Amino acid sequence: MTNKNAVYPGSYDPLTNGHIDIIERGLRIFEKITVAVLKNPQKKYLFDLEERLEILNHTFKNNPKIEVDCFEGLLVDYLNKKEITTVVRGLRAISDFEVEFQMALMNRRISPDVETIFLVPSVNYSFLSSRLVKEIYQLGGEIRQMVPELVDRKLKEKYRL
Ligand code: PNS
Repeated sequence: MTNKNAVYPGSYDPLTNGHIDIIERGLRIFEKITVAVLKNPQKKYLFDLEERLEILNHTFKNNPKIEVDCFEGLLVDYLNKKEITTVVRGLRAISDFEVEFQMALMNRRISPDVETIFLVPSVNYSFLSSRLVKEIYQLGGEIRQMVPELVDRKLKEKYRL
């Protein structure tokens, strides 16, 4: 059964196949998922906001059940503005748990209606992260199976490989 909408927030620097896996799983539960890219002026990203949005818009352009958006400031304020109370996050390993648990409880504390749903990715992606993709790429490793084609192309452009 599918119902209502959820927000899947993140940095998406860059989008990986692990994120896509979580979105596909989320769409088995929710009618629509808003992929919300964090714009944090204090944080240094490899891909600027426009690039991260371009990658997401390109990847999901044929799926009307996926909305791409961005937000600045508190996630709960963004959820409130969108009138959505459900957050989707991927939970890969024990190491994710502490941070995710803290964020979920803190979000609930400042906005009691907010529920966080954790989805477990395919085992193929349980080790995958945007940070590791960037590191492997910068050190000359192969990441083609881990990211959409556009991300691979953009990484090549950035590092002129
Ligand atoms: O992809 P990431 O970097 O793991 O995503 C983290 C994100 C964007 C979900 C988190 O940093 C966030 O929600 N930031 C917005 C600011 C906020 O609400 N902070 C309080 C969280 S308890």
